[in-house]
Amino acid sequence: MPEHTPATQPRSLSGMQPTSDSLHLGNYIGALINWVELQERTDAFYFVADLHAQTVPTDPEVIRRRTRITAAQFIAGGVDPERSAVFCQSHVREHTEVAWILSCQTAFGEMNRMTQFKDKTAKGQNANVGLFYYPILMASDILLYRPEYVPVGDDQRQHLEITRDLATRFNTRFGETFVVPEPYILKESARIMDLQEPAQKMSGSTSSDKGLLLLSDEPSRLAKKLRSAVTDTDAEIRFDPEAKPGVSNLLTIHSALSRRPVDELVAEYAGRGYGDLKKDVAEVVVAAVEPFQVRMAELMDDPAELDRILATGAERATEVASQTRNAVYDAVGVLPPAGGF
Ligand code: TRP
Repeated sequence: MPEHTPATQPRSLSGMQPTSDSLHLGNYIGALINWVELQERTDAFYFVADLHAQTVPTDPEVIRRRTRITAAQFIAGGVDPERSAVFCQSHVREHTEVAWILSCQTAFGEMNRMTQFKDKTAKGQNANVGLFYYPILMASDILLYRPEYVPVGDDQRQHLEITRDLATRFNTRFGETFVVPEPYILKESARIMDLQEPAQKMSGSTSSDKGLLLLSDEPSRLAKKLRSAVTDTDAEIRFDPEAKPGVSNLLTIHSALSRRPVDELVAEYAGRGYGDLKKDVAEVVVAAVEPFQVRMAELMDDPAELDRILATGAERATEVASQTRNAVYDAVGVLPPAGGF
């Protein structure tokens, strides 16, 4: 058993929406690797944001399947459920309970300024109230656990800022209830770009199939996509994301997975061709993805065991979340039922 000392360790928390049947390499390198690293030195809470996924109309069976897949991917990617609490957002009812209280302390105009709602609806997503309320649910997700670290990508920066604002305001109105979380924006170097359009981020929703390395892709398919990755015509391997986005992206992928500094790789490839680099990147990608796929298959073969893991995770999460919910209800004057909540 790994040591589990919640009382003395800082907490970390993050979530991912179950919006695809497979993570891509950008999610893995940009997020999951950091989660795995954080679980070594923090008491970590990692959840599937299944309620956030309800903001996009999706077939119920598809959401259910993707919820299990997403949880399994955390584990296959190295999150250890003995060490970290792995759970579904919907299994810990405090998330919605505290979100409601927070929403009653949030000005309409404040939510109206959130850029993600505007961006998503401008791109044609239907403007349901849930999508508008999304940042408040996310603030609740975070504040319930009083985490020191909330590892998120740059696109979530504004959501963390509003979380800080809501926490600070609540504390001012009702007394110290929440810990104001520090943003922990993941490093720029972890940004993985589309293989075909290396000026764009690799994205499950906007990248073409050839631009995207899925963790569920067959190894031969991964190698093929890497072979046809867009580079440039000057045939020099160096790291320069502005002038040479394709080659720099390959170096970033290699470095993240082989855990070797980019400078060292650049020195090693001096005088060699792009073909060599692509072949080696394919090797390190396949070496990372193969064990992931084996573990994924085991987890998906035994959904009952996966559901038990999620139940244990939800229990651990509830222990922490219920204390915060009680403090919040008490602060605003919710009358507890006889015997407590
Ligand atoms: N909104 C996040 C995303 O789409 C997912 C998320 C929901 C989250 N709640 C969270 C991330 C709390 C960190 C903390 O990526």
